[in-house]
Amino acid sequence: MKLCLVLGANSDIAKALVRELARDGYAFVLTGRKVEELELFARDLKVRYPSLSVEVRKLDLCDFNAYEELLKALPKLPELTVCAAGYLSRNYRPEELYEEFLKNASANYYCPAAFLSYLAGRLAVNGGGYMVGISSVAAELVRPVHFLYASAKAGFSAFLDGLSLWGRAYGIKVLHVKPGFVKTKMTEGIKVPSFLAAEPEQVARSIARAIRREKTGVLYAPAYWRFLTALLRLVPPSLLPKV
Ligand SMILES: NC(=O)c1ccc[n+]([C@@H]2O[C@H](COP(=O)([O-])OP(=O)(O)OC[C@H]3O[C@@H](n4cnc5c(N)ncnc54)[C@H](OP(=O)(O)O)[C@@H]3O)[C@@H](O)[C@H]2O)c1
Repeated sequence: MKLCLVLGANSDIAKALVRELARDGYAFVLTGRKVEELELFARDLKVRYPSLSVEVRKLDLCDFNAYEELLKALPKLPELTVCAAGYLSRNYRPEELYEEFLKNASANYYCPAAFLSYLAGRLAVNGGGYMVGISSVAAELVRPVHFLYASAKAGFSAFLDGLSLWGRAYGIKVLHVKPGFVKTKMTEGIKVPSFLAAEPEQVARSIARAIRREKTGVLYAPAYWRFLTALLRLVPPSLLPKV
């Protein structure tokens, strides 16, 4: 049975994706910082899909010393790894800008990229694997209200593109997902026009379709964000609204 390792599995998008992939013959290892919450999700999955193999493990991606222990606890290296961890800063008060920078840079770039590098090193000498990283269209559309998040996602996007090129020689395939606005706990309370706000299930379906085809490269989710992003990048930043 193929093994799917999920990082930041308490994410609403990750949970929707796991539900979507539950009938695809994977055994799942769900990792995250809040194990109790993940256990509840795993129990719910077992009720819906009684034959599903699902295990929960604690992993804070910023706990670099925990990486080896996690990999040792797996029955084998994963065929599929999904990284959904992220943090969107809402607080841009001058006195907390530095703290928020550190939170954004670690949750969206430094720690996920650290784990994926660690794992890719192992996969490379083991015949390869398929890695899915969730970045954001924000990486291409930096605005004052989210520049800490956007800059960290830009770093993660560059990392995923680079990992994809580097990994080719080792049988490592990379899918780089760039969602637009998705209605999850991350964006709770943020107002955008309803036609721009996707449900996590919609994004999960599009990621699952790409995974089934072992697609590589960039996946915009929903797809119209590819054009919207390209269009908005033509507009001088000073003419765009502050959001
Ligand atoms: N929602 C959107 O509009 C949107 C748009 C574009 C891209 N994205 C990206 O899509 C991904 C999933 O987002 P979502 O909307 O599903 O957000 P979410 O529900 O808020 O999930 C984010 C998850 O990341 C986890 N996380 C943060 N730092 C971590 C760390 N150091 N180690 C392990 N887990 C960590 C959080 O864990 P805890 O539960 O422990 O806090 C949380 O469960 C994120 O990368 C996000 O940036 C989202």
